[in-house]
Amino acid sequence: MSQDDASLEARLEEQEAFEPPESFVEQANVTDPGIYDEFEENWPECWEHAADLLSWDDEYDTVLEDGNAPFYEWFTGGRLNASYNCLDRHVEDGAGDSTAIEWEGELGETRTYSYAELLDEVGDFAATLRNLGVDEDDVVTLYMPMIPELPIAMLACARIGAPHSVVFAGFSADALATRMNSADSEYLVTCDGYYRRGDALDHISKTNEGLEGVDHEVSDVVVVDRLGDDLKHDLGDNQHDYDELVADHEGSSVEPVSRDAEDMLFLMYTSGTTGQPKGVKHTTGGYLAYTAWTSHAVLDIEADDTYWCSADIGWITGHSYIVYGPMALGTTTVMYEGTPDYPDKDRLWEIVERNEVDIFYTAPTAIRAFMKWGSEYPDQHDLSSLRLLGTVGEPINPRAWKWYYTNIGDEACPIVDTWWQTETGGMMITTLPGVNIMKPGSAGPPLPGIDARVVDAQGEEVEAGQAGYVTVNNPWPGMLRTLYNNDERFINEYWQEYSDEEADKWVYFPEDGAKIDDDGYITILGRVDDVINVSGHRLGTMEIESAVVGVEGVAEAAVVGGEHEVKGEAVYVYAIPEDGYEPTDDLQERVVDGVLDSIGPIAKPEDVIFTPELPKTRSGKIMRRLLEDIASGNDLGNTSTLRNPEVVDDIADQVSSD
Ligand code: WTA
Repeated sequence: MSQDDASLEARLEEQEAFEPPESFVEQANVTDPGIYDEFEENWPECWEHAADLLSWDDEYDTVLEDGNAPFYEWFTGGRLNASYNCLDRHVEDGAGDSTAIEWEGELGETRTYSYAELLDEVGDFAATLRNLGVDEDDVVTLYMPMIPELPIAMLACARIGAPHSVVFAGFSADALATRMNSADSEYLVTCDGYYRRGDALDHISKTNEGLEGVDHEVSDVVVVDRLGDDLKHDLGDNQHDYDELVADHEGSSVEPVSRDAEDMLFLMYTSGTTGQPKGVKHTTGGYLAYTAWTSHAVLDIEADDTYWCSADIGWITGHSYIVYGPMALGTTTVMYEGTPDYPDKDRLWEIVERNEVDIFYTAPTAIRAFMKWGSEYPDQHDLSSLRLLGTVGEPINPRAWKWYYTNIGDEACPIVDTWWQTETGGMMITTLPGVNIMKPGSAGPPLPGIDARVVDAQGEEVEAGQAGYVTVNNPWPGMLRTLYNNDERFINEYWQEYSDEEADKWVYFPEDGAKIDDDGYITILGRVDDVINVSGHRLGTMEIESAVVGVEGVAEAAVVGGEHEVKGEAVYVYAIPEDGYEPTDDLQERVVDGVLDSIGPIAKPEDVIFTPELPKTRSGKIMRRLLEDIASGNDLGNTSTLRNPEVVDDIADQVSSD
């Protein structure tokens, strides 16, 4: 570290609040602090601002219909089509030649789609899907990596009113089958494979294995040929080559189907407390309006920007802030297929420089990796095109925040630390970059119109400086409408904890812990349920546990998150071998493989620890907190409430000797 760097770091270390840079504020989409009062006084009609960003086929009659809470409806009576809003209207407005998607493959090839070209591609694929028999409201599963055909397929589904269910390509065959079964999905779009660190990765074998686990008939599977000669494979009976099918429909135009505002736009499966992933249902009007509004107000996106969110479209961040929000605003959205360190650790900065990216949105895990690699990588590139930076998915530690602020933003870009969830559809707690000061580590105040609070176990607001639980006390347009085919679980998961049903007072519980400052800034402390957040990816401990106990030779298991320098949290497995089985390396490997097979590489255990017993309370509950502390190397405190305190030392010894 040079003298300059050291003194800069020392100065920043002290600094707890940062003003938004003047140059940013001058041009920002939202700069009036009065927006908070305006939204509060005019709630829920304030959300017309969001609806106004869209083109409606039929105007809505009511902004919020709350007669059947918590099954809220937004913009009722309105009709619209999401693909029309993301494509046609920009072309009609004369922006057909502006770039919609700037795609870059890992090997370095690029593809650029103007809005007019993308509309053509989407039209062709929409005609293809319809010709295969896909009807309005049929769920189409998209099991695809970061290739342009993924957003094309999403928008094609939206065009014909068929909800999509995107399954992250890194998920396993089993995970694909579970999601297709849960959604009764009869159509699948997938690909032969993709590139990772220069290697061709087989995706079609995994797809086929997953299809064997689907318990109903799958009508058609469309396979994109991404790898050409790098992977030869045969197509099954009901499988079609994407290019061949689309060629038959070239030049077809499918009129966008007018959808009710409350019609389902997509399903997205996410992890919860039980082993079964939850099918989060998002609708056409509220979701699109909310993602467009937050893209405008928080990400400060304008049509002539080049914007890059480095998430994968297989997660909600990619849905809301690579595809729907930015494209509704007609901007250029960058998509990159590969990893940030291939062929070298400056890959992302090279992409930023070459594309003159204005806005960059990523996860704290990535930032911590960049920090570890060192500032020489961004320093090799001219990043002066950047105007705004964002983070999402997990808490960002102040050190990583400050590194991002100086080394990527050159102290000239505000950072928005955006807290939200798959269920919320869009951002909920974050600063408005042209309005608020930034406090590293704290996401910020709730957005205008969002009544988020930090409360204690009884639902009373906590004092400034105290920790409690996040709640949201009024509905918002981007909220999930229910869990697919499971209204009961929807109520139980999100509304049970703090609502007063008799008083018809409904409070949404996101299951995150937080602390609030006296200026109303909220610092998110992490999940309070059995969900762990690995590199910003949400994984259910129960899902992983059921994979582990499915391994021959494992009697019982507990899975917890332990602190990890880069990933935020990592997966730790504690397992009791069955009688007759020894805690061998082979069993350890089989446990790891079991997790990879049932979920995928993102859930790969950091460590598998065998133990003859698990620490349990006197009532027989596994003490997860204690296991988390062991995994994180924390002080264990008092273990006297345990039924079997002696086991704790044994486990701790094993972990530290690894
Ligand atoms: C966590 C991702 C701290 C949180 C958009 C939430 C965050 C879960 C932040 C949702 C943030 C998301 N600061 N924690 N800025 N953003 N989280 O559904 O625990 O994949 O409940 O949505 O990520 O994860 P999900």
